[in-house]
Order: sequence, then C-alpha cells, then structure tokens
Amino acid sequence: MKEQLHVIPHNHQVKKQDRNQQNQHKSLVVWFTGLSGSGKSTLANLLEQHLFAQGIQTYILDGDNIRTGLNKDLDFSEEGRIENIRRIAEVANLFTDAGVVVLTAFISPFSKDRELAKTLIGSENFLEVYVDCPLEVCENRDVKGLYQKARAGSIKNFTGIDSPFEIPENPDLNVATHLHSLQHCLEKLTHFIQPKLTLSL
Ligand code: ADX
Repeated sequence: MKEQLHVIPHNHQVKKQDRNQQNQHKSLVVWFTGLSGSGKSTLANLLEQHLFAQGIQTYILDGDNIRTGLNKDLDFSEEGRIENIRRIAEVANLFTDAGVVVLTAFISPFSKDRELAKTLIGSENFLEVYVDCPLEVCENRDVKGLYQKARAGSIKNFTGIDSPFEIPENPDLNVATHLHSLQHCLEKLTHFIQPKLTLSL
C-alpha cells in the first residue's frame, strides 16, 4: 500500500461529540459476523427498524449491497475479503464520526480483520456480535441457493465449504439463530445495545 507522505488531514471543528450531542445518542458500530445464511442481515434489519423508530440515526452496511457498489472490484479470495473488511471498517469509522449507529453485516471470516476493524474504530465504539448458526443449518436454509452451487463446485472459495470461518473467541454478544426465534434474538440485541447509546453526563 502507498504511504501518503504529503497528505495533511484537516482538523474540522464540528466533532463527533457535537453530533452525538445534537442527536442525543452515542454513535457506534455493531459488527455482525457469521456464516452466509446465519441471519446477519435479517437481524441488522430488525435492529435498525427498532432503533430508527426511536429517532436514532442508523445505517446498515451489508455485504451483498456493498459488493455491488463500493467493493464491486473485489472477489472472495483471501486478499479480496481482507480488503473488503478494511474498506468497510474505514467506512464504518466515518459513519461513526458522523454520529450514526452503524450496523455492519459481513461474513468477516478472519479474526485478524475483525480485530483490525475494532482497533481502527476504537474498542469503546465497537460491538462484535457473533450470529451463531451451524453450517448444516445455514446450508439447509440456503436462502440464496449458494450452498448448493458451492457443493456442486460452481462457486469456489465459499465460506464454510472450501474457505474458512474463524469463530469469534470472545464476542461482545452471541446470538444463536438456530436455537431462538428472531424476536428473542432481537430482544437480546436491543437489551445489550440500547444502554450503550446513552450519552454520559
Ligand atoms: S466477506 O467474507 O468478504 O466478509 P461478504 O459478507 O462481503 O463476505 O459477502 C458475503 C455474501 O456474498 C454472502 O452472503 C453471499 O451471498 C455472497 N457470496 C458470493 N460468493 C461467496 C463466497 N465465495 N463465499 C461467501 N459468500 C459469497
């Protein structure tokens, strides 16, 4: 990567704290990680609706959407996934600075990249949520029909089939979508996240 030797960032006067104050809530990143079909996007969507209804500034960054726009030049090789997550972490960081509660829904299969995202965004603004669902269940759901294609060999490097997923060792929250209803998972999420949005005096 090129070093930007002659780039000097400007120090803008409206800060994150000012935006948080105006919005009357903190901004942070809720980082959903898990296999394809585990329920990341579904839960992010439900959580966003819940928060949005309360007037909270929210935005979802979602794998399938970002990969058709900003990251459409990236593939599913190891390098492609690393760069995917690096860019998402940078974008999520900007959104947090802009005062938004960002919900990211990416497989983000590598611990190292999730760690990098946490470091970049700041651990105090980063909540890792593991959407816990065994491969067999995700494969059985096969909402997009991609597991079948991966098993047939027409998609290479598919996470869980011929590309690894590193299970988070110490996530901030674990939601098991194969064991509990979506409503239960959403309640667990809101119960955990809501207090973290309150501004400290
Ligand atoms: S990540 O591994 O780089 O974090 P990301 O979340 O952006 O993945 O994209 C995953 C989505 O892309 C999946 O939900 C699935 O719909 C689609 N997809 C297409 N090819 C693959 C693949 N080889 N492995 C995993 N997901 C894939």
